[in-house]
Amino acid sequence: MSEPSPRAAILISGRGSNMAAILDAAKAQGWSDRIALVASNTPQAKGIALAETRGVPIAVLDHRPYGRANRSRFDADLARLVLDHGASWVILAGFMRILGPAFLAHFPERILNIHPSLLPRHPGLHTHRRALESGDSEHGCTVHLVDESLDGGRILAQARVPVLPNDDEQTLAARVLTEEHRLFSQVVRDALEGRLPPGHSISEPAERARTKAVYT
Ligand code: GRF
Repeated sequence: MSEPSPRAAILISGRGSNMAAILDAAKAQGWSDRIALVASNTPQAKGIALAETRGVPIAVLDHRPYGRANRSRFDADLARLVLDHGASWVILAGFMRILGPAFLAHFPERILNIHPSLLPRHPGLHTHRRALESGDSEHGCTVHLVDESLDGGRILAQARVPVLPNDDEQTLAARVLTEEHRLFSQVVRDALEGRLPPGHSISEPAERARTKAVYT
């Protein structure tokens, strides 16, 4: 008997545009069966409606009733929810909770996150503002494996964009987000199909680097 094909749960907290991009790529490319679940820790997440229109199973596990004292119980319940839906991979697509060992231990090297900067530059929040304030000439996004360090797990792929002279936070964020949608969908597919890149593959925006083999 061959192993069943690995499936993923996508975790969101808000807008859900990366989640929608992954679901749309999966549908267009014929791997929708690999997405087992979309789960949100926030009942009001706008992304829930986006998931509903795409017909994927949806669950909400509100973190608030757990309180600070029961963070690890939330983590354990979230892991159980993911596993009960048959998912062995976890895709963090704008999921705004830090996950602890009670979650991480179930998915070693099988949790992917998208971060809106060229890590290790600008970990944490407000990355576009910080890129502008630092005078960076380029910016971008990173897909990495998740471990207990904040935005510090192994880098799998990056996409770069230029910072233009008239950029403000919104224009720069929009340019990066376009690359997030493209890059994350590609890396998620590769991970689920057993082609996880060895690390540190750099991706140029598609229109600038059509000849590159990896993530263009
Ligand atoms: C993205 O910028 C992502 O890089 C970051 O959170 C944001 C989520 O956006 N982790 P969305 O919910 O996918 O639209």
